[in-house]
Amino acid sequence: MATRTSVNSYLRKEIYINFPPLEGKVALITGGASGIGKAATRLFINHGAKVCIADIRDDLANQLLESLGSGTNARFIHCDVSKEDDIRKAVDFTAETFGTIDIMVNNAGITGNTVPDIREVDLHELQKVFEINVDGVFLGMKHAARVMIHVARAR
Ligand SMILES: NC(=O)c1ccc[n+]([C@@H]2O[C@H](COP(=O)([O-])OP(=O)(O)OC[C@H]3O[C@@H](n4cnc5c(N)ncnc54)[C@H](O)[C@@H]3O)[C@@H](O)[C@H]2O)c1
Repeated sequence: MATRTSVNSYLRKEIYINFPPLEGKVALITGGASGIGKAATRLFINHGAKVCIADIRDDLANQLLESLGSGTNARFIHCDVSKEDDIRKAVDFTAETFGTIDIMVNNAGITGNTVPDIREVDLHELQKVFEINVDGVFLGMKHAARVMIHVARAR
């Protein structure tokens, strides 16, 4: 039976040896200004990637950029993922700034009001969750694909 130590050392090897190298890769991270997206931004930057953060929270994104330092390969663009024009611009900005997009992280999302009783759920609130969590992911994939398929075909 595997001990906790042997499981931990196996996982460490998996992470450090088999983790796809991020050095030089270009990533667009939606919702990258806080929470999981912020942690992903830091991780990617620490592994040598170039990151564009697309978020609606300019204040948090700018704080993050400041904390990463001026020489860092991170940029920010204001982007509401539920708006196609915003996503289109975020993808174009990333590709123009860093030359391409290798990784699209469709992380932006909301939980909405967590009302435990269905009789009190507001349909407009629910639709907002779908616009961001579902439409936003679709739009992110759609526009990143414009760049990524083109690059893949050229290889
Ligand atoms: N934290 C969890 O336990 C958990 C569990 C399951 C899934 N998730 C999902 O993971 C993702 C990140 O979660 P988190 O806990 O880091 O959330 P968070 O609220 O800490 O961060 C979400 C980020 O998305 C941004 N954002 C919100 N709406 C946006 C929009 N319309 N356009 C662009 N950016 C927008 C916010 O400004 C914020 O920076 C979310 O999609 C969430 O639903 C989280």
